[in-house]
Amino acid sequence: MFPELTRDDVFRLETKRLWLRWPRAADVSTLAQLLSDPEVALWTARIPHPYSREAAEAFVLGARSANAEGLSLSLAIALRSRPQEAVGGIELRPDASGAARLGYWLGQPFRGVGYMAEAIEALISMTFGLTEVAAVEAEVMAVNAASLTVLKGLGFADLGERRIEAPARGGPIEARVMRLARRAFLPAGAAREPAARAAKLPSMSQQRRSPDETNAARALAIAADQ
Ligand SMILES: CC(C)(COP(=O)(O)OP(=O)(O)OC[C@H]1O[C@@H](n2cnc3c(N)ncnc32)[C@H](O)[C@@H]1OP(=O)(O)O)[C@@H](O)C(=O)NCCC(=O)NCCS
Repeated sequence: MFPELTRDDVFRLETKRLWLRWPRAADVSTLAQLLSDPEVALWTARIPHPYSREAAEAFVLGARSANAEGLSLSLAIALRSRPQEAVGGIELRPDASGAARLGYWLGQPFRGVGYMAEAIEALISMTFGLTEVAAVEAEVMAVNAASLTVLKGLGFADLGERRIEAPARGGPIEARVMRLARRAFLPAGAAREPAARAAKLPSMSQQRRSPDETNAARALAIAADQ
């Protein structure tokens, strides 16, 4: 699903305030601490509660392995000012319908200042630019107003309710299905602030890039400038 560019652990996306980078063994303690907060886990279908250090270790190993194979892209979110310290996580993985399924969370101290909209926009912009993914979908608990607001602000359409698997919540739950089709995505807030588009475009960092990927990244930057 994901290209060579993202399959090396030096890959990262940079936004105005954030780094989205591969999770590392050094993140385990922070992830275990932030994810053991029920105010994170209980809004999600797959993060268990209580959350153990072993669960964080297994997550980091599994995420790095899936990233390396290009099966999915699971990134730690960190502030640019403290890139070593994870403050949240974001993931895209394929689902049965051919869309990419989006999951995300922020630790409580880091909420309320719009970080997640910035992170989602960067990840989706890169994904539509460098992969064939036709749409991104997220399944959100109907009572999760903050999450729904973030997605609507990025142009996601509300497709209504669906019963989804929520293994960490003990069984299926009702969720709202939010979908952003490739053709509906306006890169880097194009409709909102034309003059700021180029400045808001996420930059991609990786030491080794194939010519195709370099061209795709360039095309992404050019598209944002038009
Ligand atoms: C959902 C989550 C990622 C949002 O991240 P965030 O960057 O802190 O989002 P913010 O609070 O800055 O912005 C959310 C938007 O929702 C609004 N909002 C927040 N709480 C709200 C509420 N209870 N009712 C209505 N709107 C609300 C905010 O005003 C903001 O709107 P704006 O952009 O128009 O100003 C974060 O709360 C989180 O990690 N929650 C726990 C895990 C989770 O829910 N994951 C997603 C599972 S689908």
